[in-house]
Amino acid sequence: MAEYGNETGRLAPPRHIAIIMDGNGRWATKRGLPRTAGHKAGAETFRKIATYCKDIGVKYLTVYAFSTENWKRSETEVSAIMALLKKYLLEAVDTMERDHIRLHFFGDMTPIAPELRALARETDEITEHLSRDDFQANVCLNYGGRDEILRAARRFAADCAAGQRRPGDLDEAAFSGYLDSAGIPDPELVIRPSGEQRLSNFLLWQSAYAEFYYTDTLWPDFNEAELDKAIAAYRGRDRRFGGVK
Ligand code: FPP
Repeated sequence: MAEYGNETGRLAPPRHIAIIMDGNGRWATKRGLPRTAGHKAGAETFRKIATYCKDIGVKYLTVYAFSTENWKRSETEVSAIMALLKKYLLEAVDTMERDHIRLHFFGDMTPIAPELRALARETDEITEHLSRDDFQANVCLNYGGRDEILRAARRFAADCAAGQRRPGDLDEAAFSGYLDSAGIPDPELVIRPSGEQRLSNFLLWQSAYAEFYYTDTLWPDFNEAELDKAIAAYRGRDRRFGGVK
């Protein structure tokens, strides 16, 4: 494990890392396996990387598990991803309290199967009992950045119509409070494995000032050393937030 200390700020990891878990299909195809085998391996990588993030002091890890566009995939593939999520949620229900891992979902859960939705509610309830200082994994499920912004805008408009808010009151902080990520700091680092260099509708609002890190490694092959490399690259960046130094 790399030496990460946070008292002096020296080598401190980012507080919030977001990852587009890409390349599962190609990883499987390269091995002559069905795409679903890639998702299975990718889910194990998620477990490994979440544990490592917690160990090195990252506070939030947000992963893109299923986008609003992923419904276009075959029914077999969609069902396999949902089954994996169910398996990991069942495991989380039993272990998150013991391991001090908070779990939260971003995305529109309305079209998600009732059983999976109930499990997500259960993990949310467990999260409520855990300390805000505990590590938190956010799983984006039926998530799209534009959809998230639209849902937030609708909720704000409804509050205005109900007389609870006034349009003139809306600023960035207030709008952030309507997003799925309400109360969670923006990611400092967004990682996309598998060689693709695009955002694919991921955390559009939240990654306004994020540093991006791309690697050719496919997500199932991503590991702790790869995360160390991404963090080292992030630490070498000159973050100016639109200002000058
Ligand atoms: C992108 O790779 C990956 C997905 C759309 C699914 C990710 C889902 C999991 C890893 C499983 C469940 C997650 C958790 C958190 C337990 P791709 O299929 O687009 O790969 P390709 O570009 O090589 O085809």
